[in-house]
Amino acid sequence: MKDSNFLKEKNARSLWHPMAHPAASLKNPPTILTGASGVRICDLDGHEVVDAVGGLWNVNLGYSCQPVKDAITAQLGQLPYYSTFRGTTNDTVIELSEYLREFFAPDGLSRAFYTSGGSDSVESALRLARQYHKIRGENGRFKFLSLKKGYHGTHFGGASVNGNANFRTAYEPLMPGCYHIPAPYTYRTPFNETDPERLAQLCLAALEDEIGFQGAGTIAAMIMEPVLGAGGVIVPHPSFMAGVREICTRHGILLIADEVITAFGRTGSWTGSRHWGVRPDFACTAKAITNGYFPFGALMIGENVAEVFESDTTGKANIGHGYTYSGHPVGAAAALACMQETVRLDAPKNADLRGRELYEGLLALQHRHDLIGDVRGGAGLMCALELVSDRTTKASIDKNVIEKIQKITYEAGTMVRVSGNNIILSPPLVLNSSEVQIILSSLDAGFSQV
Ligand SMILES: Cc1ncc(COP(=O)(O)O)c(C=O)c1O
Repeated sequence: MKDSNFLKEKNARSLWHPMAHPAASLKNPPTILTGASGVRICDLDGHEVVDAVGGLWNVNLGYSCQPVKDAITAQLGQLPYYSTFRGTTNDTVIELSEYLREFFAPDGLSRAFYTSGGSDSVESALRLARQYHKIRGENGRFKFLSLKKGYHGTHFGGASVNGNANFRTAYEPLMPGCYHIPAPYTYRTPFNETDPERLAQLCLAALEDEIGFQGAGTIAAMIMEPVLGAGGVIVPHPSFMAGVREICTRHGILLIADEVITAFGRTGSWTGSRHWGVRPDFACTAKAITNGYFPFGALMIGENVAEVFESDTTGKANIGHGYTYSGHPVGAAAALACMQETVRLDAPKNADLRGRELYEGLLALQHRHDLIGDVRGGAGLMCALELVSDRTTKASIDKNVIEKIQKITYEAGTMVRVSGNNIILSPPLVLNSSEVQIILSSLDAGFSQV
C-alpha cells in the first residue's frame, strides 16, 4: 500500500466523489478506509469504529460474511460472466430467481428483472410500468407520481421522481410528466398537522386530488419508499402505504415500492411492503441483496403485471431494456448466498430488537441535547436525528456544527452519516446490544463537545 501522505494528497486529485463538491474533497481529504471486519471499519490513521452507516444501507450482514465471499470466489472460478440478453442465461441466476420467487411470494411478486444497483432497478420499474399500460392499449398512461422527500437514485428517470431539490436542480430539465405529493413528515409539513394518522390522511387526500387534476388515465405509476430513507428516515403512519395502494388500485395506477433500502430485513420485517401489509405491483431492490459485496439489483414484478406481459401476442411486450450486467453470475451467486444467510440468521428479528434499543437511546439523547430537534425511527434499524439550531423556530443547524459532531462521534468510536440537517443511522442488522451502546455513547460525546 502507498504511504498515508501519498494517499491523502492524491485521492481527490484524480477522482471525483459522488454527492460531494470536488474542491471540498481536495481541501478536506475524506476518511480513507483500509479494512473492515464484523460491524467495524478501520481507517488509514488507525481508527477502528462501529459502522453505523452499514456501508451505505447495504452491509446488513457485516463485513465478515464468509459464505458470501466463498460463493463469489467459487463463481469466479466457474463462470465469471455471461450475458442474460435473449438467447443465453446461467445456472446460478436461475437458482436465484427460484429463491426470490419464493421469498417474495407473500408480496405477490414472482418474476425478477436483474440490474446492477438501485438506480437501475428504479429505471427498470418506471419503463416496464409504461410498457404495461401500452400492452393493455392505455397509451396515454405515461405520468409518474411520487413523494416529496423520496429518494429514487440518480438516473434521469429516478431523479425526475426524486423529491429532494439537491438531486434535481443542477440537472434540470428532468423528465416531463412527474408530479410530487407531500410526504407524511410530521416534523415539517405544509398541513400544520403533527398527528401521524391525520397527516397520513391529508397526504392521501393530496394524492387523490393530484390524480383528479392530472386525470387518472394519464398516470402510469406511483413510486414510493415504504419508509423514506435518504430523505431522513420518515416512517409513515401504518395506514399510509395501504391508503396509497387502495387509491392506486381504484384508479388503475401501478404501485412501485422502492425497496432498495427496506427489502431483506431493514425495517424489522422481510420487506417494507410486508411491514405495512401491502402488495405492490413492482418492488425495486438492490443494496442488501448482495450485502454490498457485489453491485447487483433485482426488480421484482407482480404476478398481475407478469401475466399481462407473458400473455401478449402482439409483440408489444418485447422488453427493449436491460444491462450488460443484468443477471451477472457472480452477482447472482453473491445474492443467493446472501439471501440464505439473511434467512438463516433471521436478520429482521435482530433489526427489530436492536432498532428498538437504538431508537429509545436516541430519544434519551434528545432530552440531553437541544440541537436534536426530531428523532425518527421505530421501524427496525433505520433512524435519524434532525438537528436544529433552535428548537422553537426549527432553524437549520450550521453545516460546520453538524460536521464537527460527526467528526467527534467518529473519534469516539462510531461512523455516522450526515445528510443535510440529518444524522442518519443504518447499521448492519447483525449489530449487538453493546454495539448499540457504543453508537449512543459516541453520539453523546459528539453532541457534548460542540
Ligand atoms: C430508496 C432508494 N432507491 C434507489 C437508490 C439508488 O440506488 P443506487 O445508489 O444503488 O443506484 C437508493 C440509494 O440509496 C435508495 O435509497
